[in-house]
Formats: sequence, C-alpha cells, structure tokens
Amino acid sequence: MEDNVRQYVAKTLYGFEHLLGKEITQMGAKQIEERNRAVNFKADWKTLVDIHATSRLAIRVIQPFHKFQARHERDFYNQARVYPWENHFSVDQTFKIDARVFSDTFTHSKYISLKLKDAICDRFRDLTGDRPNINVQDPDIVFSLDIRDQQVQLALDATGESLHRRGFRDDSHVAPMNEILAAGILAKTEWKPDLPFIDGMTGSGTMLIEALYRATKQHASWSRKRFPFMQWPDYPKGLWESQRDYYKEQVHNHYPEILGVEIDRETYRSAYDNLVRAGLSPFHYLKQDDFFSYKPKQKAGIVFLNPPYDKRLSLEDVQEFYGNIGDHLKQHFTGWDAWILVGNPVAAKSIGLRSTKRLKLFNGSIESRLMHFPLYEGSKK
Ligand SMILES: C[S@@+](CC[C@H](N)C(=O)[O-])C[C@H]1O[C@@H](n2cnc3c(N)ncnc32)[C@H](O)[C@@H]1O
Repeated sequence: MEDNVRQYVAKTLYGFEHLLGKEITQMGAKQIEERNRAVNFKADWKTLVDIHATSRLAIRVIQPFHKFQARHERDFYNQARVYPWENHFSVDQTFKIDARVFSDTFTHSKYISLKLKDAICDRFRDLTGDRPNINVQDPDIVFSLDIRDQQVQLALDATGESLHRRGFRDDSHVAPMNEILAAGILAKTEWKPDLPFIDGMTGSGTMLIEALYRATKQHASWSRKRFPFMQWPDYPKGLWESQRDYYKEQVHNHYPEILGVEIDRETYRSAYDNLVRAGLSPFHYLKQDDFFSYKPKQKAGIVFLNPPYDKRLSLEDVQEFYGNIGDHLKQHFTGWDAWILVGNPVAAKSIGLRSTKRLKLFNGSIESRLMHFPLYEGSKK
C-alpha cells in the first residue's frame, strides 16, 4: 500500500450511506464499508482533497488514529497522556476537541474534553516545557473524541466546519432543510440536469440552489480557505488550490430548466437573497406564485415538494392541503415524476396517489418519508 493512503470515515445523513460510498468511489476511495450514517474507506491525499472539493453528501471526514478502553476518568487521562500527540502537531499550533459521549461511565462531553485537553497539554509540557493553545474559533488541528460506553476513539477531523454549511443561507423565514438532505434527495430522484426540475414549495431555496449547483458543477466549499487537513504534517502544500481550480474550470453557465416556486412574499425574498449570495440569478430560477396555480409547459421532469407540516394545522387542514397536492399533480403533471418529502403519516395518506417508493429519511429530528409518485398515464390511483 502507498505510504500516503490512510483509513478514514466520512459522515453523512441517515439513508445516504450507499450514495456517499458510490460518490467517493468515483473520487478514488477504496475498501468502502457502509455504516450507520457513515462510510469507512481508504484514500490518498488527492482523494481526501477531492472529497472536500466536490462531495455533495459528506458532512465531514475524520481519520481515526487511536482506540482504547477506559474504566474511569483517571484511567482515561492516564492513557491519553502517554499517547504521542507530538506526532500529530507541534506546540506552536492551536487545537480544539469535539467530543461526543454515549456512556454511563463518562456522562459530560465538555468535562471529558477538558480532561483530554489536560492530558495533551501535560504531555507537551513534559516533552518541551511548553503547551499548545486551544482555539475554538479557528484552530489549526481539530481532534474528534468519541466515547461509547468505555470504548474511546480518537480521530483527526479533516474538515472542521461541517460541509453542509454552504455559507449563503439566511434562515430567518422558514425551517430550511439541511443542504446534505437536499443533495441526497436529488441523488435519490436520479435527476439529470438535462431534465426540467421544479421545487414547488421552495422555502429558502435550499433544494433549488443544490440543483443549480449540481447542474452547473459548482461547489460551495470552494470559497473556504482553510481546512484542518492542511495543517497535517505531510499535507502536500497547494493540493487544495490546484484541485479546486481544476474543478472550477469545469463549471458551465448554460441555464438549466430549474424553477423554485414560493407563495409567501417574505420567504420568496429570502430565497431570492440566498440565490444572489450563491452567485445565481433569481430572475431565471425563482417565481413568487401559488404552486396550485402553476402548470408546467414541459411534458416531463421532476417535481419536488417539501410541503409545510405545521403541528398547529388541524387534521382537516392537513388532509385538505395534501389532498390538493395530489389533485394538482394528477391534473397538471402527467408525464412527470413527483417526489414529496412528508413528515406526517396522515399527510402522506391524504395525497391520494400511488407511491412506488417510500424512503425513510430524517428532516432534522423529524422521521420522514421521501415518496415517489410516477405520474405517467395509467399510473394514477
Ligand atoms: C417546509 S417549507 C420548505 C422549506 C424548504 N425545503 C427550505 O429548505 O427552505 C414549505 C414552504 O412551502 C411554502 N408554501 C406553502 N404553500 C404553498 C403554495 N401553495 N405554493 C407555493 N409555496 C407554498 C411555504 O411558504 C414554505 O416556505
């Protein structure tokens, strides 16, 4: 095996593990193993950098480097203190620890990360007489600490700030969907940019921007200047810039047939601003309108809906609204494929069309179904 090939874990959302495995395989990742909301893989530097430059489904990548069993806090500290941290960074670099703890023995993630920080600093002090500083805002190195029961896993976080933060969104008007959820749904629909795509209830425009970025081969991560992996001792300097520039050259500007429809004036304004911040033209892609009066000109395409699900809506309102969605699709979208993300079983039933797929996903903490309704002649209920 080449020297610079390492074992990594890429994290994603529930339901997208297989898609992420396929995506990073195309970038050169090897020995893919799908896990719950994660994919284990091996990769060299170029593949790691490409994942950061072009993955639409990865939230972050970590590189596990040490595992041990800890019976109690003292044991944890002692074992962490003898680990050779100086192999990962130097005393003049800053660091941060992200901890996740699922354990009866270790109950407070903040407290246990303080213990780890002490162990690291004490190790450096013993060796050099000096200690590295913590920087929570913009650290050089990010360590990921994961404790399940008494099993401790330490990893280097390659990514730092999550890749789902695409950086152009003002969230003040609606509860927007996570960008990775939008990217994963888009992949599940198997939409190709030569086919029309409509997000009929576009809210802040998350799906719309994702579709436009995909069609034009753009990636939001390109605006980032720093990733923690750049501080790792053997990072080939300049690799991020050269790979990013290579992918930038492949961006094309032909206007795909993509449209977001939003009824609410304020929400439309915020989607408009988000598109502008994302470098996209709202005039081409956004319309303030009622989806129920929108009739497509094209004979086929993908129509996606993430309709409102407000717990305050009465049962009758939910049934009527989702029933209207079914009726409108039936009457005006013959030949299209409809995909609807629904977080409410009553709403799902009220659509009144026959679904051929119901994929379980999580919209934030809400267990939802992504339902596929092919609207071809003869496919209606
Ligand atoms: C759950 S939100 C969509 C959130 C969106 N996926 C995002 O990431 O921001 C539902 C949106 O549907 C819009 N909406 C409700 N009824 C509509 C209609 N008849 N036509 C168009 N949009 C509608 C609401 O104003 C709201 O912004």
